[in-house]
Amino acid sequence: MKLHVLVVVVAAWATRAFASRLQGRQYNSGTWGSNGTLAYSPPFYPSPWMTSTGEWADVYAQAKDFVSQLTLLEKVNITTGVGWASERCVGNVGSVPRLGLRSLCLQDSPVGIRFTDYNSVFSSGQTVAATFDRNLMYARGYAMGKEMKDKGITVQLGPVAGPIGRAPAGGRNWEGFSPDPYLTGIGMAESIKGIQDAGVIACAKHFVANEQERFRQAPEANGYGFNISESLSSNVDDVTMHELYMWPFADAVKAGVGSIMCSYNQINNSYGCQNSKMLNNLLKNELGFQGFVMSDWQAQHTGVASAAAGLDMTMPGDTSFNTGVSYWGANLTLAVLNGTVSAARLDDMVMRIMTPYFYVGLTLDEPEINFSSWTLDTIGPLHASVGANIQEVNYHVDVRRDHNVLIRNIGARATVLLKNSNNTLPLESPKFVAVIGEDAGPNPLGPNSCPDRGCDKGTLASGWGSGSSDFPFLVTPDSALQAQALADNTRYESILDNYATSKITSLVSQANATAIVFVNADSGEGYLNVDGNEGDRNNLTLWHSGDELIMNVSALCPNTIVVIHSTGPTLVGGWYDSPNVTAILWAGLPGEESGNSITDVLYGKVNPAARTPFTWASTRASYGADVLYEPNNGNAAPQDDFTEGVFIDYRALDRTNTTPIYEFGFGLSYTTFSYSNLVITSTGAGNYNPTTGFTQPAPTFGDHSTNLASYQFPNSKFPYIKEYIYPYLNSTDAETASMDPNYGETVEQFLPPNALSTNPQPLLAAGGAPGGNPALWDVMYTVTATITNTGDRNGEEVPQLYVSLGGPNDPLVMLRGFERLSIDAGGSATFTASLLRRDISNWDTVQQNWVITNYPKTVYVGSSSRKLLLSGTLDGIIIRH
Ligand code: NOJ
Repeated sequence: MKLHVLVVVVAAWATRAFASRLQGRQYNSGTWGSNGTLAYSPPFYPSPWMTSTGEWADVYAQAKDFVSQLTLLEKVNITTGVGWASERCVGNVGSVPRLGLRSLCLQDSPVGIRFTDYNSVFSSGQTVAATFDRNLMYARGYAMGKEMKDKGITVQLGPVAGPIGRAPAGGRNWEGFSPDPYLTGIGMAESIKGIQDAGVIACAKHFVANEQERFRQAPEANGYGFNISESLSSNVDDVTMHELYMWPFADAVKAGVGSIMCSYNQINNSYGCQNSKMLNNLLKNELGFQGFVMSDWQAQHTGVASAAAGLDMTMPGDTSFNTGVSYWGANLTLAVLNGTVSAARLDDMVMRIMTPYFYVGLTLDEPEINFSSWTLDTIGPLHASVGANIQEVNYHVDVRRDHNVLIRNIGARATVLLKNSNNTLPLESPKFVAVIGEDAGPNPLGPNSCPDRGCDKGTLASGWGSGSSDFPFLVTPDSALQAQALADNTRYESILDNYATSKITSLVSQANATAIVFVNADSGEGYLNVDGNEGDRNNLTLWHSGDELIMNVSALCPNTIVVIHSTGPTLVGGWYDSPNVTAILWAGLPGEESGNSITDVLYGKVNPAARTPFTWASTRASYGADVLYEPNNGNAAPQDDFTEGVFIDYRALDRTNTTPIYEFGFGLSYTTFSYSNLVITSTGAGNYNPTTGFTQPAPTFGDHSTNLASYQFPNSKFPYIKEYIYPYLNSTDAETASMDPNYGETVEQFLPPNALSTNPQPLLAAGGAPGGNPALWDVMYTVTATITNTGDRNGEEVPQLYVSLGGPNDPLVMLRGFERLSIDAGGSATFTASLLRRDISNWDTVQQNWVITNYPKTVYVGSSSRKLLLSGTLDGIIIRH
């Protein structure tokens, strides 16, 4: 009988997960949570191995040369984190000093470098999405990547497409881009290209359906008083998975992303980091992902089972923080030795890590990591987990360049002008400006006084949690607006306390007042509780009585301008249509230059053109989906049934014919535009052919000794660090080394059929290349329209292309193109968009492929999802399977 190795908890998990897979229910559309049965995720094995095709072919050869020289221990070292805070970054894997490979450094965040100094803080992903400007998305990614590179970081832990923003109250929506998958897909692709062009590996996260903070990890939920034993299961049907949640990850893979982080939540009752359907079938096979899958921190729950299901790197390496033991490390060494993980699977993990490593230009001679995540002191412990090896750990390298210029520009170009009555804006040397609200001012204790920005004090320029980074400075609206007022000789007073009611009353009642009220709504990662919000927002109202503040000020001041900093929509129904509220702007989370960015827009130095990347509905219920706040499955995994399918955000309101306050894609300018001359041209793209054939058999690279004596800790070479995760065995006896009293029993019960197969595997019809079947990316139609600036100011406009796929289960319209055009007063420009085959296809659950249905297809070009000014039909569509 074959031996197997797992710690007890791992064996239990794997057996249970596999038993449920044997029930044989189908993965199809619309069956989740019905008839008392739980949603189910079917098995898919073996884990696909890399191919050497496409853009990565050259570096594949380089990685192969490198990996072929590695010992088994060195290979395991590259797949396994060294343990929480055991090295300088939020995640490090083991090194291979013999060949010059220093530890890979994995570091948050998607807005800049977390836990260091002399770095920039960029706008949130959601904010840059509002620019609808591909160039700015790319430039932001590139600038962040440059900073990461200069600190010695190997992998930037971003960008984010999960959450996509299913529930407007979702705590981390701001880290991603938009609840629209097309916009998020573009945001992902441009960010990834930027980051990787700068020489670091990007990490698209969190795969997948990671749509709320609450219940994302059972221990965290226990800490909040919920008695649950397992993480929440996001129950998603096949169509919704393809057409919504996976969509932006397809863009990420197509853009060449090097790594993907699997998520904390379960998907159809199988954990994200051991879900073979998601990782093996959809991500690695159908989407053709060639890079590596890393676990979210402590999101790994099994050893062998997660390896078989497609996990390639465990983070931060220990089973949970600082246990000193790992599901992998020594256990993975032993698993390969006893055959429960194939040598080919381990080799594939390492190839998947090293190929993108070389692809982005990283070398075997990378400079040292020059900062420590665990202290800002110059001298500190190298192994902070145990306070060991005190040395210089921070070199305080200033990596910012002139990125403040870009950040200021993005902040301004992302500011959405939602209302502007009577041409209130732009301001032109107003006589008297009264700035009201805590959100205009500083946090009195400094912008970084709350770790990971875990408080809402002063102006809100970032959400909280691992998606944030320390500010090098934070320009407040108060300071920037005051500087502008001084330059204009404007009278200027500010009151930065929302509750100073009598002072505010007397100030804004004065003659000639232009009141600018700053308000906010915050959210973040679930490990921090800010004012009773455990990551997700409890409600969609403004914080610190912001709605009351606006109503009080606007009751007294006929020229009240409102600026909202927020992590998503808020309910503005109580005051937005007051005639005294003359202008409303959403400024998102702009990063370090916040005050300058908003000043540029308010004073017309930048003519706004941004578009809201989400809907502003009048009620919370109109969004069609919400956070699950209470456990609904006893103390087992809460069941979050995504019964709304693809109908989130504007698609939900369109379906119920609900009028939003501000629709998705809406945003005003200080000038006006007209749309004309829609032209739709068929490109005559060829047929869509399903991918057929088989892979090569799984390759292996190098050999290894089977003698356990050669895998012992090399005491003579370096000292053992407590809590550090190593690949070495602590005994020459396998059972002792495994620490598993059941070692050697019943391997067949938990290894799914085919898990160990290295035979050629059939290709999927919808697969075949990174991003899926290459023909999905064929341009089918080119759409153009003429946009004319009919006002008297130069400006920018964002024409948007929407399609209706025409079927009874299709959204009314879906975004499928946009372009940000600069057009001088009186001038015209041509809007051009390409409709790809995927843009007009639906996922067919029977064929397991994309199809263009027979339903009539309509194309719209307009200035928002509800201002569909031009339309035409796609004639001559034939079904091509
Ligand atoms: C957990 C978060 O979910 C993830 O986004 C982050 O990258 C890791 N922690 C590392 O900090």
